[in-house]
Amino acid sequence: MATMMSIPKSGAVRQPNDLESYWLPFTPNRAFKRAPRLIARAKDMHYFTPEGRAVLDGTAGLWCSNAGHNRDPIVAAIKQQAEELDYAPAFQFAHAKSFELASRVAALAPADLDRVFFCNSGSEAVDTALKIALAYHNVRGEGARTRLIGRERGYHGVGFGGISVGGIVNNRKFFGTLLTGVDHLPATYSREHQAFTKGEPEWGAHLADELQRIVTLHDASTIAAVIVEPMAGSTGVLPAPKGYLERLRAICDRHGILLIFDEVITGFGRLGYAFAAERYGVIPDLVTFAKGVTSGSVPMGGVIARQPIYDAFMRGPEQTIELFHGYTYSAHPLACAAGLATLDLYRDEGLFERARALEPLFADAAMALKNLPGVLDIRTVGLTAGIDLASRPDGVGARAYEAMNRAFHDEGLMVRTTGDTLALCPPLVVSEAQIGEIFDKVAQVIRAVA
Ligand SMILES: Cc1ncc(COP(=O)(O)O)c(C=O)c1O
Repeated sequence: MATMMSIPKSGAVRQPNDLESYWLPFTPNRAFKRAPRLIARAKDMHYFTPEGRAVLDGTAGLWCSNAGHNRDPIVAAIKQQAEELDYAPAFQFAHAKSFELASRVAALAPADLDRVFFCNSGSEAVDTALKIALAYHNVRGEGARTRLIGRERGYHGVGFGGISVGGIVNNRKFFGTLLTGVDHLPATYSREHQAFTKGEPEWGAHLADELQRIVTLHDASTIAAVIVEPMAGSTGVLPAPKGYLERLRAICDRHGILLIFDEVITGFGRLGYAFAAERYGVIPDLVTFAKGVTSGSVPMGGVIARQPIYDAFMRGPEQTIELFHGYTYSAHPLACAAGLATLDLYRDEGLFERARALEPLFADAAMALKNLPGVLDIRTVGLTAGIDLASRPDGVGARAYEAMNRAFHDEGLMVRTTGDTLALCPPLVVSEAQIGEIFDKVAQVIRAVA
């Protein structure tokens, strides 16, 4: 039976009247369809419901709308591009904006991370990076390097590669045997040692040494790459402990293993720099990106490779394809146009620097919630906060789910949840007053679900 919703008399149908056909991703569909949270439009820091109620965006959409919503220059660029060139084949042909965007992204990335492969999402970016890593060893005559190392609690999207190296049980357990030859580092989080830390925790760098144990177990000659998020976002905001990424880099260097930073969330200003690699002064071999590259306006993702990795493929007869990989919509013209306009905005409005400058105030505002009922831990880094709530006896996630619902319906605030953790990661255009507003609303909600 289709669920029917009333159509506004104005005739302007702004909400669907049949909720049944759409199978929502990562959403409890039945609960949602009984009490939908619908969004009709957005501008800058706000969403608006079909009834016109404003909802302050505490989550940059889904960690992606870093420049805020419906920014005029991005909208104009997409419109103009749609009129000029809707699509050009991605294989064997190209259009000018793909080169332009690649060089702009390369210029933002540190060191010799300057070859850019485009795809359409974070999941595709991860699978692309894993494939480049495997193929890189293969073309260099080290084809036995096939193992991939991820980390417990890591989130790398939903492709088979991504869920194999990922470390979130529900994303894995339903989907068969996954990739073979995958091992995992331990998660870097320990509440006992790290509770209520602003920024990178002091405790935990030694957990990188587990990579050496894994190398000893499997032998370096069988390991292609290690993939980690510099800050694990989707699992509840886990910043890397101080010195952890440096240690991973050193062990990878020692053994010829590629280091991949999954910067799908941390890329484009979230931690106050274009990429977290810059914040930490650690240069990975491959960087994945998505989300913020177009501020969420058009789907796009990609992989940035260090120059020697690209060069390793550029051999053999010139007319042969060097990497048998790509997507119909790699470097889609609309995404490239949106990406260029977005990068202009980031530069012209100094949004990465703005995030860096706001970090202490954001962290203080988050930590002020420390003594509210049921708060077990708060973590912050860049313009990101994770707040762990005590789980209810009737089920993990129930308290945070109610908090998210109340935030949306009662407080006019969008928050993210994972388990019983609330995550906040507003657009980088957030004002100081709006940071106060976000955490005031979160405090209200935490009290309400106590
Ligand atoms: C670190 C990381 N990698 C990959 C992904 C997957 O991105 P997408 O949902 O665009 O496939 C995400 C999404 O949140 C992410 O946080």
